[in-house]
Amino acid sequence: MSGRPRATLHYAAAKPTAREASWADSFVNTAWYSLARELSERYIGRGTHCRTDEPVSFDMKYKPHSPACERNREPILAVLQRHFADRSRVLEIGSGTGQHAVYFGAALPHLTWQTSDLESYHAGIRAWLDEAALANVLPPLTLDVTGDWPETQFDAVFSANTLHIMGWREVEAFFAALPTVLPVDGKLIIYGPFHYDGRPTSDSNARFDATLRSQPGDMGIRDRSAVDRLARAAGLRLIDDIAMPANNRCLLWQKTAASITWPGKDGA
Ligand SMILES: C[S@@+](CC[C@H](N)C(=O)[O-])C[C@H]1O[C@@H](n2cnc3c(N)ncnc32)[C@H](O)[C@@H]1O
Repeated sequence: MSGRPRATLHYAAAKPTAREASWADSFVNTAWYSLARELSERYIGRGTHCRTDEPVSFDMKYKPHSPACERNREPILAVLQRHFADRSRVLEIGSGTGQHAVYFGAALPHLTWQTSDLESYHAGIRAWLDEAALANVLPPLTLDVTGDWPETQFDAVFSANTLHIMGWREVEAFFAALPTVLPVDGKLIIYGPFHYDGRPTSDSNARFDATLRSQPGDMGIRDRSAVDRLARAAGLRLIDDIAMPANNRCLLWQKTAASITWPGKDGA
């Protein structure tokens, strides 16, 4: 594979925001790649980056590594193979370590996969992208869902394990902004844990939700109905809800119309 020349990896010390700092006590925070080795030693065993009790670790090339991504990538790929077969441009929101992007980009070469995340995650994502050198996986855009969104249009949006990490206001902002990048017929796939009718689907999800809600940042597993209300207001119709391993779901929406009304806060 050709691709970009390998870049020397620099891990600029990004000053953590108050929110990132608050996560750091219980969540491995991927923000400080300049301190990757120190962080991996300091936080291993203390918390979690994703939805398991496993921490993100850092390999010899300082690539962040999420074991959960290793486990869930194949089941998610099966969903993407089915539902993104007719897509060409995907925006991934909250690319995290970058592992999903390189795995899905390699397996789905017909897609142009645009990574994005908060800027503090970019060094780790770039480390994975530089190593994979895939022409169809693009360097990360800085995208905080509450801020400016890209002006480009995509025919699909993908996001894994983000809605329970974002505060509810951020989840609202996510869906309010989606119509700016997703035209009619565009698809949205969200992977992660969800509650149904206000109830967790398993004891492990209940425990995970309690852990999230005990942290600062308004994190918590979202109710599918509450999220779907936001999606409908953005002109999206839920067309599939797929059970995934470890009590996760893949929710698939398709944009059928212009956004309708902003529903306001109706709970998560
Ligand atoms: C648990 S990690 C999931 C990362 C990756 N998608 C995965 O499945 O491993 C949560 C991700 O949500 C992102 N995130 C949190 N708040 C965000 C916001 N306001 N805008 C964009 N991304 C956000 C984080 O930066 C992080 O990458």
